[in-house]
Amino acid sequence: MSENDPIAADKRLTTAAGAPVPDNFNIETAGPRGPALLEDVWLIEKLAHFHREVIPERRMHAKGAGAFGTFTVTHDITRFTKASIFAEVGKKTEMFARFSSVAGERGAADAERDIRGFALKFYTDEGNWDLVGNNTPVFFFRDPLRFPDLNHAIKRDPRTGLRSAESNWDFWTMLPEALHQVTIVMSERGIPRSFRHMHGFGSHTYSFINAANERVWVKFTFKTQQGIANLSDEEAVQLVGLDRESNHRDLYTSIEKGEFPRWTMYVQVMTEAQAAEHPVNPFDLTKVWPHGEFPLIEVGVFELNRNPENVYADVEQASFAPSTIVPGISFSPDRMLQARLFAYNDAARYRLGVNHHQIPVNAPRCPAHSYHRDGLMRVDGNHGGTLAYVPNSRGEWEEQPAFANPPLPLSGAATHYDHRLDDDHYLQPGNLFRKMTPVQQQVLFENTARAMEGVSRAVKERHVSNCHRADPAYGEGVAKALEL
Ligand code: HEM
Repeated sequence: MSENDPIAADKRLTTAAGAPVPDNFNIETAGPRGPALLEDVWLIEKLAHFHREVIPERRMHAKGAGAFGTFTVTHDITRFTKASIFAEVGKKTEMFARFSSVAGERGAADAERDIRGFALKFYTDEGNWDLVGNNTPVFFFRDPLRFPDLNHAIKRDPRTGLRSAESNWDFWTMLPEALHQVTIVMSERGIPRSFRHMHGFGSHTYSFINAANERVWVKFTFKTQQGIANLSDEEAVQLVGLDRESNHRDLYTSIEKGEFPRWTMYVQVMTEAQAAEHPVNPFDLTKVWPHGEFPLIEVGVFELNRNPENVYADVEQASFAPSTIVPGISFSPDRMLQARLFAYNDAARYRLGVNHHQIPVNAPRCPAHSYHRDGLMRVDGNHGGTLAYVPNSRGEWEEQPAFANPPLPLSGAATHYDHRLDDDHYLQPGNLFRKMTPVQQQVLFENTARAMEGVSRAVKERHVSNCHRADPAYGEGVAKALEL
C-alpha cells in the first residue's frame, strides 16, 4: 500500500490474504441495476467464511464461561506428590478455568437447576494438567456405559424436540445409585447463584506419586472463598426472564471490576493399604470419602484475574481432558475415569480437529516434542525437519523412563462385574439428607416436586420408594410434596 494512503496502516481492511478491500458496502454488479459478478472475490470470501463460523458445540456442558488466573501453593504436599506445580510453597502456575451447565445447549439460560462443570487447566512447567470436575463430589452412576443414555434422557425428546421431565426422571429413578447426585441437584445447592459462589470437585479418585515413587489415592476439593450462594426456583425463574447469561455475566463483570474470585484447593488422601480394606469401593464415583475418616488437607489457592480477550478463541476452543496429566499425578481404576480418559480428546478431535492441542488456550507453556506430524490445521511448523520416526540413531525425542509410574497390582478374572447387585446405594444419600436442617429438607421436597411436574405416577412412586430406602422421612417428605 502506498505511503500516501489516507487510512492508517493498522486500520486498513484487507482480505484474509492481505490484499486491500476497496469496497465493503457495494458488491460488484454488471451495470447499476444488474446482477452480481462471480469475480467479486471479497463477497465470495466474506460469505464463505461466515457459513463456516459455527463449530459443533460440546455434546454436554455446551453453555459456559471461562477466565484465566493463577494457582499458588500455600501448603507443602511434596510428601504425597512430586508434581512440579506443588514443588514449593509460594510457587505460582498460570491457569485457565471454564465453568458450565450440563444439559442446555450453547444458548441455554444459565440459571437452570443442573450440575455445573468446573474444568481447570494448569499450565505447569512439566506440561498441562487438566482437572475436569463438577460442582458436586459424586456423579449419577459409576459405569460409563450409562453416560450417552444420561445425555439422551436429559436432553431433547426425539419426537417432540422438547426437554422431557418424564424421560429424565424415568432414567434417574431406574438407577438407585443416582439418588446421591439427584439429592444434591434437587437440594438448595441445585441452582448456584453464580459460578463464583460454588465449590468445585475433581470427583474421581486420582493418584499422587511422590519422589520415592510411592502412590496414594487422592481426591480434590475447591472451596469457594466467596461463600456458597444459591437461587431458589422462584428467583431463578424471574432471573431467566431478565438475564439468560447471569452466571457468565457475573464472572465477567466481577473480574473486570477487579473482584477476583478465589477458591482454596484441598486434597483427601487414602493409602493403598487403606483402600484395600475400606468397606466402600474408593473408586466408586457415586460415593464420597467421609471427611471424618479422610480429612481435607489444604494445598493452595487459585484466583481468576483475567477475562479472555476473545471468547471464541479461548473459551469455545478450549478443550479439557482428564487424560492430560503431569508427572506426580495419575489415574485410578475408577471405571468412569477410565472411559473419560478416552472420551475428551476424542471429542476434541471431532469438535476442533486433530491438532486441537496447538490452539493457544490448549497449548502447553513448556516445550512439547512428539512424533505426531501433519493433520488438519497443523500450524506450528510441524517440527520442521526433525526426524518423524523412532527408533532413530540421532537420539531425537527420547522416552523418559524415569517418569514411569510404580506398578499397580491388580487381581481378578476379566468379566462384566455388576456392582449394582451388592452395593449400598442409599446410605450416603441418607446421610446427606440427615445432615440437612428441617428447612433444607423442605426445600429439597419442594424442588423435587416442582422438577417432577408432569411426570407419570409410576415414576414418581419409584422415586419416593428410592428416597424412602435412604431415609423414611425423605420418602415421606417427597411423597407429601408430590401429593401422592
Ligand atoms: C464435557 C464425556 C463424565 C465433567 C464433556 C464432553 C464429553 C464428555 C464428550 C465434551 C468435551 C468437548 O467437546 O470438549 C464424558 C463421559 C463421561 C463424563 C464419557 C463418563 C463416562 C463426567 C464427569 C464429570 C464431567 C464425572 C465431572 C466430574 C465435564 C466437564 C465438561 C465435560 C466439566 C466441560 C469441559 C469444558 O468446559 O470444556 N464430557 N463426561 N464429565 N465433562 Fe464430561
